Amino acid sequence: MAGLSPVTVELLGAIARVSLNAPPVNAAGQALRQALWDAAAAIEADTKIKAVILVGKGRGFCAGADISEFGRPAQAPLLAELLGKIAAAHTPWLAALHGMALGGGLELALACHARIATPDCQLGLPEVSLGLIPGAGGTFRLPRVVGVAQAVEMICYGKPITGKQAAEIGLVDALADDLPTNALALAQDIATRGLTAVTGATGLRVAPEPPDWGALTATLRRKTRGQSAPLVALETIQTSLGLPEHKALAQERAAFIALRDGAESAALRHLFRAERAAMRPKQLGTAQPRATSNTGVIGGGTMGSGIATALLMAGYPVTLIERDESAATKGAALVRHNLDAAQSRGLIADTAALLNTFQTSTDYAALAPCDLVIEAVFEDFDIKRAVFTALEAHCAPEAILASNTSYLDLNALAATLAQPARLLGLHFFAPAHIMKLLEVVETNATAPETLATGFALARALGKVAVRAGVCDGFIGNRIMSAYRRECEYILADGASPADIDAAMRGFGFPMGVFEMQDLSGLEISYAMRKRQAATRNSAQRYIPIADWLVEAGRLGRKTKGGWYAYPDGKTPEPAPDTAALIARYRREAGIVPRRFEETAIMGRILAAMQGEGRAILAEGIANSADDIDVVMVNGYGFPRWRGGPMWMLANPTP
Ligand code: 3HC
Ligand code: NAI
Repeated sequence: MAGLSPVTVELLGAIARVSLNAPPVNAAGQALRQALWDAAAAIEADTKIKAVILVGKGRGFCAGADISEFGRPAQAPLLAELLGKIAAAHTPWLAALHGMALGGGLELALACHARIATPDCQLGLPEVSLGLIPGAGGTFRLPRVVGVAQAVEMICYGKPITGKQAAEIGLVDALADDLPTNALALAQDIATRGLTAVTGATGLRVAPEPPDWGALTATLRRKTRGQSAPLVALETIQTSLGLPEHKALAQERAAFIALRDGAESAALRHLFRAERAAMRPKQLGTAQPRATSNTGVIGGGTMGSGIATALLMAGYPVTLIERDESAATKGAALVRHNLDAAQSRGLIADTAALLNTFQTSTDYAALAPCDLVIEAVFEDFDIKRAVFTALEAHCAPEAILASNTSYLDLNALAATLAQPARLLGLHFFAPAHIMKLLEVVETNATAPETLATGFALARALGKVAVRAGVCDGFIGNRIMSAYRRECEYILADGASPADIDAAMRGFGFPMGVFEMQDLSGLEISYAMRKRQAATRNSAQRYIPIADWLVEAGRLGRKTKGGWYAYPDGKTPEPAPDTAALIARYRREAGIVPRRFEETAIMGRILAAMQGEGRAILAEGIANSADDIDVVMVNGYGFPRWRGGPMWMLANPTP
């Protein structure tokens, strides 16, 4: 049989091996669909073929529909039609899965008659993360293979599972240590003894116990905070259970198309592209990252311990330097605590094994083997300068040096170094081993190869990285300062903290700005405001209420009172003391409080974000509006399904 590209077919006796070959991820674009269609037709006509193995060449089986085709008219054959053809074939198809089988890729595997996978293969229907639902039979077939509860979990939340987990829930029939050999043996067994005898398959089975749809809807609504695709997915699964296949597939297709052509999917696809583009900033040019195999962290507090954890989890040995033994012991305990939590969530296999590659010291000489060192000491310029002087004295001359500073002037810090080209900012977000975002800050002197090393590290840590220039707060904190200021204006003019937080939650933020401040502690931004007091623009309106709260000992949750009262230490309640301070400010400033609707509050917050975003772009602090969206979504809780503040500015919805 002639080789077809991007699909090839080989005959191995009575077995046909069909290989998908569309790098990098075998996305099911039109050319692949057509080639697979032709291959399926040829195989069905060949009576000598007794079983088919479907594999993906390269990194994985198939990453689903080709996302770049969305937004253009669909071209035949549609994926759903192709899968229908395979599902209806007389010759049994065995999907042999490695790497990933996602979206349409898993739907393709579900249309096959049996599945074998490597234990670490990622299987999932992540369409909701693109504002979609499965559109090629996933909502019909998956519940009938793994049951409704598992299918709801996979489809409505979009989280992939491993091959090993897939075997446990019956999504794959067998696991493979050696996929080519094991798949061939299984296919030969199927060819000889028949599908049912080998897999016990009786076709798709209907889940016996319909779940409590009301409870599922309520939980989903709460967790997805305003996004519509997950709820559409749930509805589609529910309706599909009572329908014959052709009707179920038709209703799934209709819902898929409506979502694909809607604002939510456009916004989420924008972020999919933007996150990948952000990792390739123009400043890198052709620079190559330096190899990093041994890392150091200075400071084992909140951030340093999180950064050390992230490095260990990614397989880097870490040396943590602290001021004294007691601080080193505390830092090590934080790292152990983080790793234990990661182990209990199944993210790492063995805390003890990782701790074998971790050491603490109070002596900078221990950093001699490190090729990358990240500083996370107190936010104080003189302390940081002394740290970098010590680093220059003790680290290898080619080691990359990074600071996790939130606000300090990295150009000024670079000016104190003998080799400023090797300095960059690596601005992690708390908790550093969990949050996806990393701002990679370029000073006036950062060499492209230093910057490239920062981006390579981000990849290794599984983070989304965005290049930022030097300014007070870089991209994210600078925008956050601007909208926090705006929130204080709205508060001063008549809204309560609860009004503003409710508007933000209603918009899709996990938390409002005042609840967030109470959680992280009001004293940090208080100290920053005091530092900036001398240089603050006196023409700019300044609301002192947050300062008054700190001066009254109301630091947030930790003191059981900040913007809100926390009688039980965690549930916010309106605080009469805070209301009195707000009333005092309004009285002294001669403000007659007015009512704000939620939409008006969010309109002002968005305008503040977008205004600061424009200024950041004009100054070259961010490379693009897309980068700003990536920062706000991954670091500041901006609802992903809305695409980010700059996307909303460019794509207003009626
Ligand atoms: N379509 C088109 N291109 C895709 C793609 C897809 N489904 N998935 C990945 N790519 C591209 C990426 O854009 C990237 O291209 P670039 O190098 O030009 O930026 C390249 O493949 C490599 O991707 P990553 O950089 O993301 O590589 P990783 O190894 O980090 O991740 C992945 C690989 C896990 C496959 C990840 O890319 C991913 O999650 N892809 C999306 C999977 C998905 O959501 N599938 C569902 C699609 S919708 C669908 O199938 C509808 C159906 O139900 C009808
Ligand atoms: P922290 O106070 O929790 O920890 C600082 C640690 O540095 C302490 O353990 C201290 O003992 C140690 N330290 C101080 N001087 C040292 C020295 N000379 N040598 C070795 N260790 C020293 O502070 P946190 O929150 O971890 O912040 C650290 C840095 O990270 C700051 O620059 C901060 O602005 C930045 N940052 C903080 C974020 C946060 O959410 N806390 C987020 C992003 C950045």
